[in-house]
Amino acid sequence: MPSPPGKQSWDPAHYARHARFVSDLGMAVVSLLKPLPQEWILDLGCGDGVLTKKLAEAGSRVFGCDGSAAQVRAARKLGLDVCVMDGEALGFAARFDAVFSNAALHWMLRPDAVIDGVWRLLKPGGRFVAECGARGCIASIQRALVEVLERRGIDGKAIDPWYFPTVDEYAARLQRRGFKVDFIASIPRPTPLPGDIIDWLNTLAQSYLRAVAEKERAGLLREVRQLLLPILCDASGRWTADYVRLRFAARKSVESNH
Ligand code: BEZ
Repeated sequence: MPSPPGKQSWDPAHYARHARFVSDLGMAVVSLLKPLPQEWILDLGCGDGVLTKKLAEAGSRVFGCDGSAAQVRAARKLGLDVCVMDGEALGFAARFDAVFSNAALHWMLRPDAVIDGVWRLLKPGGRFVAECGARGCIASIQRALVEVLERRGIDGKAIDPWYFPTVDEYAARLQRRGFKVDFIASIPRPTPLPGDIIDWLNTLAQSYLRAVAEKERAGLLREVRQLLLPILCDASGRWTADYVRLRFAARKSVESNH
C-alpha cells in the first residue's frame, strides 16, 4: 500500500542496504542493557530484527514490536516473536524485565505516551535502556532540507518527523513518570555512511521528500546534496552524517507495582 504523502515508509531491503550501520552501532546499547539469560525483554521499535536477534542469542526471551508491518515481516523471517504495534500505545498482557530500544524513539513524537507505556509493561525493578537521536542530531541535514523546501515556498520546519530531546528534557520526563535514571548522556557520534547522502535521504528522510511531487524529488535531492557537500563529504568522497545520540538506562523502582 503506498504511504500517504509526508509519511515515512520502510522497505526492509533498501534499509538493509543503506542503513545497516544503525543496528551495527546499536551494540553499545545492548552492552548497557546487559541482557541476562531467561529475562523477558521487549525490543521497542525492533525494525528488521537484527539487534533483536542479538538479544535472543544472549539467551533472553525476546519480543519485538514495530510500527512498520514490512519491517515486522522481515524480523519474522529471522524466526523472531514480533508484532506490529504503535510505540505510543503499547499494550502487552505480559510484564517484562526490560524494555530495550535502538534508533526508534526519535520517530515517536509523543514521548510521554511512550514512557508511560514502557512503565506499565515493566515489572517492578525493570530496566528501560535505549538510544535515540539527541538534540542537534543531523542538524546540518535538517537545515539543508528546510532550506531547499523554503526555496519552493514550503515550510520545511513544520514537517519535522523526529523528536531529538536534550538530556535534561528526557531525564525530566522519565523522572516525572517515576523512573530512576541510572545513566543518561548526549553523545556526538559522527557516523560514516555506507554510500551517498542521497541514499541516506531516500531511506530516512521521506517525510521531507514527499512534500514535493515525485518528479521534483531528484532536483530537490541534488540541491540538498550540493549544500551538504562542503560540510559532510570529505576529499575522497566519503559522507559522514552529524549524528548525536541520547543514551540512557533507567529503572522502575522495586516498590512500584502500578
Ligand atoms: C537513526 O536511525 O538513528 C536516525 C534516523 C533518522 C534521523 C536521525 C537518526
